[in-house]
Amino acid sequence: MTPERAALLDRLTRAGGRGVLRFITCGSVDDGKSTLIGRLLYDSKLLFEDQIATLERDSKKHGTAGENEIDFALLLDGLEAEREQGITIDVAYRFFSTEKRKFIVADTPGHEQYTRNMATGASTADLAIILVDARKGVLTQTRRHTWIADMMGIRHAVLAVNKMDLAGHLRARFHEIVSDYLRVAEALGFDTITPIPISARYGDNIFQRSDNMAWHDGPTLMEHLESVDTDAAEALDHPFRMPVQWVNRPDADFRGFSGSIAGGRIAPGDEIAAAQSGKTAKIARIVTADGDLDSAGAGQAVTLVLDREIDIARGDMLADAKARPAVSGQFAAEILWMAEEEMLPGRTYLLKAGGQVTPVSVTTLKHKLNVNTFEREPGVSLQLNEIGVCNLSTARAIAFDPYAELRETGAFILIDRFTHQTVAAGMIAFSLRRASNVHAQAMDVTKARRSELKGQKPAILWFTGLSGAGKSTIANLVEQKLAAIGRHTYSLDGDNVRHGLNRDLGFTDVDRVENIRRIGEVAKLFVDAGLIVTCSFISPFRAERMMVREMAEPGEFIEVFVDAPLEACMARDPKGLYRKAKAGEIKNFTGFDSPYEAPEAPDLHLKTADITAEAAAEEVIEQLIKRGVIG
Ligand code: ADX
Repeated sequence: MTPERAALLDRLTRAGGRGVLRFITCGSVDDGKSTLIGRLLYDSKLLFEDQIATLERDSKKHGTAGENEIDFALLLDGLEAEREQGITIDVAYRFFSTEKRKFIVADTPGHEQYTRNMATGASTADLAIILVDARKGVLTQTRRHTWIADMMGIRHAVLAVNKMDLAGHLRARFHEIVSDYLRVAEALGFDTITPIPISARYGDNIFQRSDNMAWHDGPTLMEHLESVDTDAAEALDHPFRMPVQWVNRPDADFRGFSGSIAGGRIAPGDEIAAAQSGKTAKIARIVTADGDLDSAGAGQAVTLVLDREIDIARGDMLADAKARPAVSGQFAAEILWMAEEEMLPGRTYLLKAGGQVTPVSVTTLKHKLNVNTFEREPGVSLQLNEIGVCNLSTARAIAFDPYAELRETGAFILIDRFTHQTVAAGMIAFSLRRASNVHAQAMDVTKARRSELKGQKPAILWFTGLSGAGKSTIANLVEQKLAAIGRHTYSLDGDNVRHGLNRDLGFTDVDRVENIRRIGEVAKLFVDAGLIVTCSFISPFRAERMMVREMAEPGEFIEVFVDAPLEACMARDPKGLYRKAKAGEIKNFTGFDSPYEAPEAPDLHLKTADITAEAAAEEVIEQLIKRGVIG
């Protein structure tokens, strides 16, 4: 899913000649995952270092002398780049080989956050080994891992029923587990599901056929791994797609677009389009380290030279001009939530799809999926390891194909903007029709004209702080002072807005995010009207305050931290709410059982325990003068 790694593993492995098999093992440590990986590495008698030597030899044989070095540098670079972007990788790739095939197994250690690691490993795998303890059978974990493997586009599953030695090597037990499992997995999209009874500990049915289970008439694990055909025939049949990973411009005479072909085939003379801009050109050359090619297809890393100059940047998608991908800012998707913090609809995350990165928010969580029953369940947010069907809205339109049509261009991840952690993996189902049928209408009287008429620069004065800190009092004084000098203002206040526009919202995290999102949109309209808007909301989360800042033009949003210690606010208690909160009569009260994230770098910091409201309001006015909002 991360194109850098996909491209890199691709190149690394293509040096080996015959199709390399990339797989993951799913199951907890108790199920024998480590034992199985250890057994595979040990029995293949080739560990990582030796494998590097083999790869080096092979790529000398198959490629140019320097290529191998480049590949390994790329390996490190690729991982480094991910780290910079904050994509957590707790996945170790282990290489081993037999005479018949080379293997890369994504080893995803750790119990906590296992799902996230597994999803990361699964994003480049061809096959998943789902380990089940013969004594325990199919568990919730098994179902979840199976679903993730399917969701991440893995088309081949192996059901490895392990610890058969502890289940008396009984055929009946094996069949019982297999039929349980097939009930779960058959509804999903796997091309093959291969059940194998094993004992990783003793090596039964791993490399050696087991005498203890002579009744097993299927392959051993290794026979299967060596022979399973994972060619991406589907991807080759798809119309041409290539996300541009970088623009290759060594000198003024050469300009090429490099990337890994995600779908279809291409030949010189073919017409392509840059999906986002719609501009078209013809392929002039297909350049690779081994020289120019007459054609290339899905899975190959190439540099394309076009017959004319069109504007293309990293992150753009090149596509068959006659069969283009969707380009949309609104789509439906399934997402797997992988963070401890819950998913909050309305909050802005970063979406990364191919090389495209854009702010995004979940506009609606339509329903959750129960991983045990695969039934729909209602929900307002997603917790760790939960799966949801959502509508998403991106700040910029992205180019994609529905995931069911092409895995490479239909998958994405979501990244937290503050912790930079990967918080979700998703697959796009379809573009929402409203996205293509709603267009911005240009108005002749503009924001600039409206501001000019009012003789002022519009601004959003955003007062944030605990209940009782003095936000509304100061905002009220500021508005009076502005009115006195003939300025045009409007005031948005928590308690007032919650009686009208936001009367359907309470004080859960989910509702507070939506509260601020709507206020942000309203403030933006008032700013567009040329007004100076004062906004007094607890607005406890920095993510949403940042979101409103980004909705405004640079310099327009002024964050004022109205700061008073909790004890001072409790002593003031203007509405008697702290008393109620203390008595347990109100739930989710900010400062008690609901958090407040203080601004780290507010534009103005008012400590209201030390100064009067009048002095605080004066400071705000000075700030407006300093910023040129008022003369
Ligand atoms: S916000 O957190 O979503 O920004 P907002 O500023 O709109 O809150 O509303 C806060 C006001 O609602 C408080 O000033 C207080 O009068 C009232 N209120 C009622 N219940 C709560 C609560 N549980 N937490 C905070 N404020 C509450």
